[in-house]
Amino acid sequence: MRLPSSVKIVEVGPRDGLQNEPRAVPASAKIALIDQLTASGLKWIEAGSFVSPKWVPQMADTAEVMAGIRRREGVVYSVLTPNMKGFEAARAAGVDEVSVFTAVSETFLQNNINCSISESIERFRPVAAVAAQAGIPIRGYLSCVLGCPYEGSVEPAAVADVAADLAKLGCHEVSLGDTIGRGTPAAAQRMVDAVAERVPVERLAVHFHDTYGQALANILAVIERGIAAVDSSVAGLGGCPYADGASGNVASEDVLYMLDGLGIETGVNLSRLVAAGTLICETLGRRSGSRVALAMAGGPE
Ligand code: HMG
Ligand code: MG
Repeated sequence: MRLPSSVKIVEVGPRDGLQNEPRAVPASAKIALIDQLTASGLKWIEAGSFVSPKWVPQMADTAEVMAGIRRREGVVYSVLTPNMKGFEAARAAGVDEVSVFTAVSETFLQNNINCSISESIERFRPVAAVAAQAGIPIRGYLSCVLGCPYEGSVEPAAVADVAADLAKLGCHEVSLGDTIGRGTPAAAQRMVDAVAERVPVERLAVHFHDTYGQALANILAVIERGIAAVDSSVAGLGGCPYADGASGNVASEDVLYMLDGLGIETGVNLSRLVAAGTLICETLGRRSGSRVALAMAGGPE
């Protein structure tokens, strides 16, 4: 197996995890979560999103959250922004990075941000220009790369086309999202290989939801293909409001445990990460979606 010596973990729990939470989560709980994630050694944390509060009410307090966290030098706190309005709010909040998002599927995108794929790219163009002037890096998310809840299967070449558009727009990294978690390792490798022909693999990340229990297998399969950036969510929080049945992202604790076992450097401390997951699960009154956290809570073997 050819594996990278280190992997960048992008923690998306405070955004992708909590955006779909049916109960109101107070800003203070989000701030406590992000501070604990920082303490675990994570260097990339997606803190929230500046989107329409009518569409995603759970993220309406992102400015308050950004203002309340204890920011650590060297940690990148990013937010998701769908348009210029979101970008301006993100800039006012002093974020280190913004993410834009589109999809390989027209129907999914209409349901998610109410526009077509080409319209989404046009909408991001001014965001990318202003962000470049302001020196704020942009990350691009691409949803439905291994299947769409509305349109079914997706061709790797179609994924490569939109990924290349995001890269051309100025996204320093393109995160390939298996939004519905239906992908399997061989399909994930085929998709990554196709995209890597258009966007250098060093600029790609993967974003797996664990709906079908394939996420860890898929991650291992694609890091063998040169991927060295992985999105995950503490305690496996989340789902997607526009993809019925989409479960949470792969749990950060489980990804870290696997990478630790492979001797791959991440800079993240497992017990501290588990502590962050335990606290947010207590706050939400839910069981952790991390198998590692559940096993560790059972005490030493
Ligand atoms: P729209 O209704 O077409 O837009 O929504 P609009 O421009 O007509 O605006 C409607 C209202 O929203 C207006 O307010 C705007 O001011 C306001 P009103 O006049 O009705 O009072 N508005 C905003 N408010 C705050 N912040 C903003 C903003 N923009 C407009 N930035 C829009 C278009 C994109 C705004 C909307 O569809 C939206 O916000 N969607 C959010 C979708 C979202 O957050 N989805 C979840 C994230 S994607 C994801 O989870 C997938 C990912 O994890 C990868 C994977 O798993 O695949 C990334
Ligand atoms: Mg997601």
